[in-house]
Amino acid sequence: AAIEKSGYEHFMLKEIHEQPQSLRDVMRGRLLPEEGMSRLGGITLSDADLAKVERITITACGTSWHAGLLGEYLLEELARIPVDVQYASEFRYKNPVIEDNTLVLAISQSGETADTLAALREAKRRGALTMGIVNVVGSTIARETDFGMHLHAGPEIGVASTKAFTSQIVALVLFSLYMGRRRDMSVLEGREMVEALQRLPDQVEEILQQTDDLRTLAEEFADARNFLYLGRGYQFPVALEGALKLKEVSYIHAEGYPAAEMKHGPIALIDEEMPVVFLAPRDPVYAKVVSNIEEVKARSGRVIAVVSDDAPELQGKVDHLIRVPQTVPALLPVLTTIPLQLLAYHAAILRGCDVDQPRNLAKSVTVE
Ligand code: G6P
Repeated sequence: AAIEKSGYEHFMLKEIHEQPQSLRDVMRGRLLPEEGMSRLGGITLSDADLAKVERITITACGTSWHAGLLGEYLLEELARIPVDVQYASEFRYKNPVIEDNTLVLAISQSGETADTLAALREAKRRGALTMGIVNVVGSTIARETDFGMHLHAGPEIGVASTKAFTSQIVALVLFSLYMGRRRDMSVLEGREMVEALQRLPDQVEEILQQTDDLRTLAEEFADARNFLYLGRGYQFPVALEGALKLKEVSYIHAEGYPAAEMKHGPIALIDEEMPVVFLAPRDPVYAKVVSNIEEVKARSGRVIAVVSDDAPELQGKVDHLIRVPQTVPALLPVLTTIPLQLLAYHAAILRGCDVDQPRNLAKSVTVE
């Protein structure tokens, strides 16, 4: 059956609004609240073999690579496993060191991206154990990995990835719980994470009610020529993804950067013309981000801050506040991503761009 836009003007907007459901679907049957654990039927490895995994290399392209970068923060923090993240196009042509007991994790919405597939095959040639986090069931990457997880996000038609990204984050959290609870994560910490996961779909729903505010914000900035997106810790990959979304659909040049790294270069770009989106939810690096915001304001940058509470430290100091609900730091990226998707969407519409079929881009890049 043809996939319909069911009342939405574009697939991108429909898929943004499907996220409460796609997040429920990626969690369905996978949460064990008592044990503070996840149940992942697709991970067919024995407990003994899982315990042998000493290191994880994540490989992917585009938005899936941003999810992979977040996977590094998640797996290192929650499961204490060392992780490195590589662009598949680089991994495939360098001479990657794959030690014994390294798991290579390929992340792909389509399961068909040529570079990711080539990287996966190279890893297998070198004897690595391989895992996939893939949306499309029966796709090549899903078939060629030793085991994995499906996202169950449903078809994603908009070329710019939205719902697949937030599901990839949740899949990585579930996998981190799975590995972490077998290592040194306490049951109480595990339970806190499961409870936070259960609240997530309704919290996303809440953010989606703000779509009018984000349109108003987009109106103010639709003529900008550049944007900076800044975040630290779990919010750094969100900054990269926010910038990518804006570039892809609105053709406004945007750069994502670690907020404190800004002073080593991008700060030179800041003047009253430069909109800077700060990811500043209440998490362990919040106070640090507040000082980075002050650095930008001191140079007359226009600051849009995404916060998760009243943010009294920022009231009156920034140009715009976008509020998302509060949750544990590891899950805040799911929530802070949503307003950035809507901002990119509305900016693109105001600029008359074809959001579902941006120029020069393909949904799945199956050639090199
Ligand atoms: C293309 C798409 C992106 C996507 C990337 C990786 O560039 O336009 O939205 O993130 O491929 O795709 P994959 O299917 O491997 O996640």
